Amino acid sequence: MLSVAILAAGKGTRMESSLPKVLHKISGKSLLQRVIDSCVELKPDQIFIITGHKSNEVQKSIPNDKKIHFVIQEPQSGTGHAIQVLCREVKNHEGKLLVLNGDVPLIRPNTLKRLLYLHDSKNADVSLITTKKTNPHGYGRVFFKGDFIERIVEDKDCNSLERENPLINAGVYCFNWSNLSAIINTLQSNNKQKEIYLTDTVSLLKNSLGLEVEDNGELQGINNRIQLSECEESIQNLIKEKHMLNGVTFINKASCSISEEAEIGKDVIIEANTHIRGNTKIKSHCIIGPNTFIENSNVGLNCEISNSTVYASEIIDSIKIGPYSHIRPNSKISSFSKIGNFVEIKNSQLEEGSKVNHLSYIGDSIIGSSTNIGAGTITANFDGQKKHQTKIGKNSSIGANTVFVAPINLGESVTTGAGSVITKDSKDNSLAISRTKQVNIENWERKKS
Ligand code: UD1
Ligand code: MG
Repeated sequence: MLSVAILAAGKGTRMESSLPKVLHKISGKSLLQRVIDSCVELKPDQIFIITGHKSNEVQKSIPNDKKIHFVIQEPQSGTGHAIQVLCREVKNHEGKLLVLNGDVPLIRPNTLKRLLYLHDSKNADVSLITTKKTNPHGYGRVFFKGDFIERIVEDKDCNSLERENPLINAGVYCFNWSNLSAIINTLQSNNKQKEIYLTDTVSLLKNSLGLEVEDNGELQGINNRIQLSECEESIQNLIKEKHMLNGVTFINKASCSISEEAEIGKDVIIEANTHIRGNTKIKSHCIIGPNTFIENSNVGLNCEISNSTVYASEIIDSIKIGPYSHIRPNSKISSFSKIGNFVEIKNSQLEEGSKVNHLSYIGDSIIGSSTNIGAGTITANFDGQKKHQTKIGKNSSIGANTVFVAPINLGESVTTGAGSVITKDSKDNSLAISRTKQVNIENWERKKS
């Protein structure tokens, strides 16, 4: 039987934040969610999340799962106290208890498996992960006597000699749960922080083992925003390396961010300051950026998107977007189309080869294939209460500065006069024009005042 306890009750004082520490995100996912995800592969029988500070907020952030149970620790008197509360609330202490700090989010499932293997094969009371850090500041230092861990001394409690020890406690432990519960209530709080430390259990248990792993970033604990940003960088480096090995070029990789879920095809070039978020798929031979933000969207083959923002939309193949375009949710831009500078498209469908090149707002519209929308054209889609649709048929030519007062339905091959305000539907092959004729008054002089 394998149970997991995730320690997530602390406030995270050093984050200087109103948000509980474990709800801070790296690459779009909270620290706590990452820790939960890291142990799912181990197929635990039950997962206990110890919450306390803003426990409602923390609980709400986690999707319902039959295996996940919340235990409230109030007040938060230290990591050892958190496990005392767990041992009191849960009666059955059978099997192994894997304890994970909620602020060590990059731990890999494989490292956890190695820890469980060591624990089982040596029949340990506690096995924990250690690593040597060049800068161990802030971490508990691990001291061995022979093959066993003798004690862990928290950074704040170390004397100057102890502080030199580079071997740190990563905050990842596997306990024999019944042996742990036999000693858990004997923990004391006679230390600098007046807290009950879980780390003191190693001195009370007999068979305390360490698994030393290489410090490759996965054991980074997050106590402040500097460490948060270091973890973000570690994840981003891994993601970008994966894409580079798959044939994606980054022109200035440090300035770009890519979500873990993103899929990017071969020979895509990601220019500087480009951010690919959420569930976005980009097919081969695209040039994305510079200065581009794409979220939850699909981009087809051979597209070029520069200095633009795209949300929740479908961009089919061979399309040019930008600079300075804003594609809002639920838009579909079909192949060979062009969206130019200062153009906003929302909830609209553009058929093949249509062009909206300059300074337009196209909302709630369907634009037929090979239609050209002149500069400055606007769909007036909102009557103050409701949004209405604009439909423009294929092969149409919309004059510059046309305003469509929706709902409006234009046939195919329609032309509108520049500067027209279109309020009535028009049929195929017609010219729609609505503006006063120009009057030229000759020999006109401005009144002298
Ligand atoms: C802890 C370890 C330290 C280790 C480091 C690794 C202890 C005493 N120290 O120190 O040896 O090197 O992690 O990152 O355990 N929490 C609770 N209830 C509490 C207090 C904390 O649930 O009463 C939770 C926090 O929300 C956090 C985790 O426990 O997720 C660790 O607490 P934190 O205060 O960050 O401990 P560290 O000082 O980092
Ligand atoms: Mg910590």
